[in-house]
Amino acid sequence: MLSRPLAVLALLGVGSLALAAQSEQAVTLTIDGGGGGPTIDRHIFGQFAEHLGRGIYDGIWVGRDSAIPNTRGIRNDVVTALKALHVPVVRWPGGCFAEEYHWRKGIGSQGDRPVTLNPNWGSVPESNEFGTHEFMDFAGQIGADAYVSVNVGSGTPQEASEWLEYLTASVGSLADERAHNGHAGPFAVPYVGIGNESWGCGGSMSPEDYVGLMKRYARFTRNFNPAQPMQRIAVGPDGADRRYAEAVMNAWQHKDWSWNLEGLSLHSYTVGKWPPAFKATGFDESDYAALLHETLRMEDLVREQSELMDRYDPDKKVSLVVDEWGSWLAPTPGSHPDFLEQQNSQRDALIAALNLDIFARHADRVRMANIAQMVNVLQAMIFTDHERLLLTPTYHVFRMYVPFQDATLLGVHFDAGQYTLGDRQLPRLDAMAARGRDGKVWVSLVNLDARRSTWVQLDARGMDHATGETLAAPRIDSVNTFERPGEVSPRPLTAKRGKAGLRLELPPHSVSVVALR
Ligand code: AHR
Repeated sequence: MLSRPLAVLALLGVGSLALAAQSEQAVTLTIDGGGGGPTIDRHIFGQFAEHLGRGIYDGIWVGRDSAIPNTRGIRNDVVTALKALHVPVVRWPGGCFAEEYHWRKGIGSQGDRPVTLNPNWGSVPESNEFGTHEFMDFAGQIGADAYVSVNVGSGTPQEASEWLEYLTASVGSLADERAHNGHAGPFAVPYVGIGNESWGCGGSMSPEDYVGLMKRYARFTRNFNPAQPMQRIAVGPDGADRRYAEAVMNAWQHKDWSWNLEGLSLHSYTVGKWPPAFKATGFDESDYAALLHETLRMEDLVREQSELMDRYDPDKKVSLVVDEWGSWLAPTPGSHPDFLEQQNSQRDALIAALNLDIFARHADRVRMANIAQMVNVLQAMIFTDHERLLLTPTYHVFRMYVPFQDATLLGVHFDAGQYTLGDRQLPRLDAMAARGRDGKVWVSLVNLDARRSTWVQLDARGMDHATGETLAAPRIDSVNTFERPGEVSPRPLTAKRGKAGLRLELPPHSVSVVALR
């Protein structure tokens, strides 16, 4: 099928010129200069680090005695790389792991901690070397907020309540115990998750059963640190399933003085099919288009959940928290199948950018999101191999998007056109704009077309410079490797100034971010 500009040229009888003209045919993108929309909460650029495979051990924690440079056991190279992302929040310790985690086993002298098992992820030994204090230290080293998930599935309200008291109280025997273990003052815990996937690995609960338990946890999971307000996040739906969201929001609407909630979670992965079998690299354009098509469904999911929440909460007091999202692909050949290690390609860069754009567009309701996961697991930012560290294409997108943290959303208008492959149709262009805290207008631009550049004509009155970076790659499945770490890395992008204004060439299958002046 002809794209619209090409079809017009063909009708005018200039078909032979059409192919040459096609790449020059610019999409006009108009940015609203007005007061702007909601703030894009920086927490939508959050991360998730679970005790899973090499996500924590090797990826973050190497121990104080390691030859790998570390600060109190935490890898310096990983901390340095993450600081450049201004990671706003990290969710921990799971995931499914959280529903079998007993926090007391991860405090006190390292040598005295019991070795337990990790039944969800290969039943491998869990040393408990990385526990509460180590996680809080890690969050502090990278400057992120802590998001702690309490154990609803196999724990008790008492266990969760004591954990929060241990973390946040200034007085009492639990505060004394924390001080004895090395942290005199209370920790700041801005977010607590009340369970994880309680409809599945968290205990296969019906929505009604979960809501009954959730109210008790919401009541007894107390924060004693007045310097840091805490938000409680309930388990929400798996993808488009509405039952949990209906049950939780209905309960919230009829709540009494004794409990409250500030967030509802949503989990949605880009998988292709279950169990995950889409190849992480070495895939063809059909698989590329299929996964981008699937990932764009996040827009519908978020809109539908927001509409549902609006019915119970028109003032938007409860945040939608997409605390697990990202690509879930076939495991890297030769890796432990339960460790969820997968390569990260240019397609992942587009998946990251498209989802971040969606969350930003729904900033009035989506106030946190946590990509799964941070290091070595699923759609990771970073891979480690003993002393070596590698940045993925997804890392580069998160770094390029830093100016959107706490920026003010602006309206953008453009004809997205079509990228067509067989009978699959996708928008050719995605874009989002915001006024950053630095006062500049920032624009993200994703060219989904696997084969063609897209030219964009920027209509932003009074602006005559646009500079930034583009993340392009030779192939849709290009990856970074320890041998070729710079195969996919951002390069400078500057708009050309012509009579009609600013024109940008977006390479095929690329992500770009520019600032206007
Ligand atoms: O991120 C991996 C797993 O995916 C998490 O542990 C679980 O919550 C989800 O099913």
